Order: sequence, then structure tokens, then C-alpha cells
Amino acid sequence: MTDFSPAPFPGAPFPTSRPRRLRSSPVLRAMVAETAVEPRRLILPAFVAEGLTEPKPITSMPGVVQHSLDSLRRTAAECAEAGLAGIMLFGLPEHKDATGSQALAPDGILNVALRAVREEVGDDLLVMSDVCLDEFTDHGHCGVLTADGVVDNDATLQAYAEMAVLHAEAGAHVVGPSGMMDGQVGVIRSALDAAGHAETVIMAYAAKYASAFYGPFREAVNSSLVGDRRTYQQDPANTRDALREIALDVAEGADIIMVKPALAYLDVIAAARAHTDLPVAAYNISGEYAMVEAAAANGWLDRERTIDETLTSIRRAGADIVLTYWALEVARRAM
Ligand code: PBG
Repeated sequence: MTDFSPAPFPGAPFPTSRPRRLRSSPVLRAMVAETAVEPRRLILPAFVAEGLTEPKPITSMPGVVQHSLDSLRRTAAECAEAGLAGIMLFGLPEHKDATGSQALAPDGILNVALRAVREEVGDDLLVMSDVCLDEFTDHGHCGVLTADGVVDNDATLQAYAEMAVLHAEAGAHVVGPSGMMDGQVGVIRSALDAAGHAETVIMAYAAKYASAFYGPFREAVNSSLVGDRRTYQQDPANTRDALREIALDVAEGADIIMVKPALAYLDVIAAARAHTDLPVAAYNISGEYAMVEAAAANGWLDRERTIDETLTSIRRAGADIVLTYWALEVARRAM
């Protein structure tokens, strides 16, 4: 008779514990997988440029375009069809100026695009807007400047409050203040409430770092930034500063807090997850996209596996929601 009794311990044959057992087949692996990248958690960032009749490719982000209004509408419909959570719109005006006045024009490109997209998707997809001046200013900064050329925090807040109300009126379900001005969430919340938009969600770019990985975004939004954003975006050396920013945004009324960029800041995403009960979003940004696409185009990386691993790592770090330029592709693959 075979003896099936457990081997006595110590002295048991080694190894007694075999983690490989649960990795032995695709079905087993799927059953025990702790993290998934579901389409319902993904948001597609999209650029729309005033005056375009055809989509225009962005060289440093192969596969991403500046949309015309028509191609944006079609893409939004595809996002809804693919089961994505939302589409985050960035508007590129034909004419930029020092104050970013097109941001506050009711018929400015972003407001027009929000109306068109909302009309297209209704409530089947969350329509989201970037609340920031950098796409609209000729100097490329996220706010208006003082005579000394410094970004004027409190003057900029007024513009953000007006922008957010215009976006809500144009149909945005969610506004995303991304300029890193002190107090931006508070003024936007009060302005929205006062204008009768208490239901509009604020997804606050709470912890946003002054990052080199934004590089390709400059081409995406035709930006000619003078200088850098280090007087308002965070120093990559800091984590406690991120927790402070998050606490302030929560206190000011944020509904969702965001960490950005994602890959070089997975620890910050994990810290954010541990420090707030709000949903945490992370933005897998232009440079993170470009790195993978460039390496894959050279045959140096397996493109799909790298994309899946990238997005999985952001979810595993603690992000409930992921903004990614691959959202549509990944959602379609998952279906
Ligand atoms: C600001 C904004 C930026 C991005 C999103 N919102 C640029 C910046 O802060 O420098 C970057 C997104 C990306 O790089 O993909 N409006």
C-alpha cells in the first residue's frame, strides 16, 4: 500500500510548498489573477484641433492624432461601443494668446467639442475635460502670468472656475483640473455648485509631477512652452508633498484624485491608495506611450505584452482608473 500520509516535518522532502502548481495552465492562472485591466476602468485622452478637416498624426506618438470634430465624434462613439469609462478631451485653438482667452470663449474649440461628443454619446460614455490653460496660452504655461513672468496663482483660479462651468454647460460629466494651482479644486467646486452643476464630478490631478515624460504632449497640443513647470508641478524627489496635495484636494471637494505620470510614480500611486478612500486614477502619459511604441517599432519589445504589463502594473499599484492612449485598443482586445 502506498503511504499517502503527509511527510513528517522537519525532514519533509523539499520543496513542500510548490507555488508553480497554480501557474501551470492559462485557466488556473486566470482564476488566481489578482489584477485585471477592465475596459470599464479605462479613459482615452483625445486631442481635438480647431480648423482640422482630417485627423493629423502626432509624430512623437505614433497611432495618436489631433482629431477633427468629425473624427473625434466617431472615436467617442467607438469608445462607448468598446465599453470604456470615458474620453478626456484636450482642445487646441487656432489662435493662442497670453491669457488663453479661447479657453473662456463659449464657442472655443474645447466647448464646441464637448457639446459634439456629449450629443454623440449621451450618458453611454463619460465625457471629461482638461481644465487648464496651457493648450490655450501662447507661452504654454498652465496659467496667466504676472508682469514678472511668474504664473499668477489666484488670477488663474478665476479662469479655471469659469472654464469648468463652461465645460459643465457644454455637457462634461467630469472636469479634470490639471494646472496644479493652489486652491483650484475648491474654486471649481464652488463655481460649479453656484452655477447649478452640483452633480459634475471633479477628477483632480492631485499629485502631478514636473516630468520629462510629458515631452510628446507638447507636440500633441502645439505647445511652445517657454521655461518649465517646476514652480507649480511637483518635484520628482517628493512623496510626502504628494500626500499633502491629495489631502488638500480631498478637503476642497475632489471626487477622484489622480497621480501623474504613472510608471515612474507607481510608489506614489500605492501611497495615494493607502491615504485616501476616494477612487484613485493614474495617467499613463505621452512619454510612457512613446517609449513603448518606439521600442516596439524597432522590434526591441513585444508591443502587446508590454502594453498589457504596463497597464497591469498601474492597476496593481492601486489605481482604480487608468487614463491611457491605448484604452480603445486594449478594450477591444479584451472583448
Ligand atoms: C496640462 C496637461 C498636461 C498633460 C495633461 N494635462 C501637460 C503638462 O502638464 O505639462 C500631459 C499628458 C501627457 O503627457 O500625456 N494641461
